[in-house]
Amino acid sequence: MAEYYTMALLQESVAAIRRHTEIVPRVGLILGSGLNPLAEAVTRAIEIPFEAIPHFPVSTVVGHQGRLLFGELDGTPVMVMQGRAHYYEGYSMAQVGLPVRVMRLLGAEMLIVTNAAGGLNLTYRPGDVMVICDHINLIGMAGLNPLRGPNLEEFGPRFPSMNAAYEPALRELAREAALAGGIPHHQGVYICLAGPSFETPADVRFLRLIGADAVGMSTVPEVIAARHCGLRVLGLSGISNVLMGEEGAPAPNHEEVLAAGTLLVPRLATIIRGVLRAL
Ligand code: HPA
Repeated sequence: MAEYYTMALLQESVAAIRRHTEIVPRVGLILGSGLNPLAEAVTRAIEIPFEAIPHFPVSTVVGHQGRLLFGELDGTPVMVMQGRAHYYEGYSMAQVGLPVRVMRLLGAEMLIVTNAAGGLNLTYRPGDVMVICDHINLIGMAGLNPLRGPNLEEFGPRFPSMNAAYEPALRELAREAALAGGIPHHQGVYICLAGPSFETPADVRFLRLIGADAVGMSTVPEVIAARHCGLRVLGLSGISNVLMGEEGAPAPNHEEVLAAGTLLVPRLATIIRGVLRAL
């Protein structure tokens, strides 16, 4: 595991993938915990296990499949990460961002990133979809950024803007698709913690106070890597549980996160396919 990845190392990942497929993906999709079945709608799929790609982080979490799919979703050429790497698994932030850079090098223009998240906003219910309108990079404020290290100018500038990182036009397409599908949805702010321990009730009250609507352990590093290299980004959180921030309230657990996936998969699939058709 490297702390930083040079263009030469990234090109090794690209070359390994190119031995399996010539498809130029338009959209890269990252599927979060319990959301692997979202990939079932991908047609003419070619599968590549993460293990077969040099430098690719291999997901170790239950509910993360660990393979890359290339195919079509409603006629759009896509590459899908079934499973992702998280910082808490022991990967460097650079490694968590690596698959996104590889997507870019393979030709992708857009990243659609999904996750399972805990609701902080008390109007949210398990099974709701949150279209991410902005994020709070709490772990980044503590120094954990995928762009740390020598800047790769080929991708983007040393100090990239994170304004409107979640493209307003794509958020609007997602909102329209959710409305058309009768899917309960919100626009909200996602906050990224390192994990793997869940939040304390005091953490929950703090996160709510600083303006976050949902909390999770992913997505933000990938979005930073994506914006740095110019990918358009749409982020969707599936709310798997709602956090009360009181000691007597039920604690979140990974099983309920995976169970909520059953309800969320068809909802997220409807939104993603609606967005792709409208592009
Ligand atoms: N906290 C952090 N991450 C999560 C949660 C949660 O409650 N639910 C799903 N991912």
